[in-house]
Amino acid sequence: MDLARNLGDHTGEFFQAQAHIWNHIFNFINSMSLKCAIQLGIPDIIHKHGQPMTLAQLIDALPIKNAKAPFIYRLMRILIHSGFFIDAKIPGTENDNQKGYLLTSASELLLKTNPFSVTPFLLAMLDPILTDPWHHFSQWFQNSDESPFYTCHGRPLWELAGHEPRLNQFFNEAMASDARLVSSLVIKDYKHVFEGLNSLVDVGGGTGTFAEAIADAFPRLKCTVLDLPHVVNGLESSKNLAYVGGDMFEAIPSADTVLLKWILHDWSDEECVQILRKCKEAIPSKEKGGKVIIIDILLKSQQKGDDDHEAIETQLLFDMLMMVLLKGRERNEKDWAKLFFEAGFNDYKITAALGLRSIIEVYYY
Ligand SMILES: C[S@@+](CC[C@H](N)C(=O)[O-])C[C@H]1O[C@@H](n2cnc3c(N)ncnc32)[C@H](O)[C@@H]1O
Repeated sequence: MDLARNLGDHTGEFFQAQAHIWNHIFNFINSMSLKCAIQLGIPDIIHKHGQPMTLAQLIDALPIKNAKAPFIYRLMRILIHSGFFIDAKIPGTENDNQKGYLLTSASELLLKTNPFSVTPFLLAMLDPILTDPWHHFSQWFQNSDESPFYTCHGRPLWELAGHEPRLNQFFNEAMASDARLVSSLVIKDYKHVFEGLNSLVDVGGGTGTFAEAIADAFPRLKCTVLDLPHVVNGLESSKNLAYVGGDMFEAIPSADTVLLKWILHDWSDEECVQILRKCKEAIPSKEKGGKVIIIDILLKSQQKGDDDHEAIETQLLFDMLMMVLLKGRERNEKDWAKLFFEAGFNDYKITAALGLRSIIEVYYY
């Protein structure tokens, strides 16, 4: 058979298709190269240098074997391509070839010294405990397990976290890093959402970073963090912040407000309705000041030619992450409203506030 004839007149299209496939096969190399750079401390070293850092200076400062020095240039080259570093002219040098590495806003957000560092989240999400389940994805479609995570590890994520201290620790640190950033943004720009409340329960509030920030910003607000015992055991309560170990499917302490940050996207629709019903039992009606505050993704609708291509892709990636690690999903406004009404709430208000995530306040009369 003349194989060449199968290519027809569309060689250009063929190579485009091949490149598209290759990029998708090797997408993980972007994440893994970034992880390597973070583990070697490259952004922190360049930041400390304070001006464009030459390759030789970077190699000198890195904790690596001499024999591996020639490979750093190639690691930096792909990370420049993916937008984590730039190659800048060194000030005061005549020679245009004298260039050095500088950070971009993305690598600044990965500095260990940045209070809003995303590094704990990166290291958690790229840990083999959380990436191995992807190798069981298709197998899961053909078995009865609740998630590919379960197929891989034989237990749901939260149960394994109760038995694997390393997983519990890196997961809680990842969540705390996000809570630090989001609570600061909320207090800066959306403080009114929490104004006038007397009490708040942060359900699934992890190790309490969000609640702690709210308790500091509103000293008269009584805050409680409810999470699984392995997450909150040993955490010390303070003046207006208390920790409760428990199960949100069984009981939620009473308060004016329940906060659910990054909780409902972990769960199926049926489980979300159960959680929301428990929230409704815990809070008073809208007239008496009661509400649930949800911080989660609100899926954007996909329109042709949308210039939000990257934002939509990120939301879809999170949706897949929820499918593989847990039993959850990301939701659009219609999906959210259905859950609220099914759980007995009558009204909600969406504030598109936090990049890819929104603040949704939910009430009943
Ligand atoms: C994705 S994390 C979100 C943590 C925190 N709200 C944040 O955004 O930083 C989900 C949290 O739900 C907690 N969780 C899972 N099952 C729970 C349950 N049945 N009762 C209470 N908390 C639970 C987990 O331990 C974890 O801390």
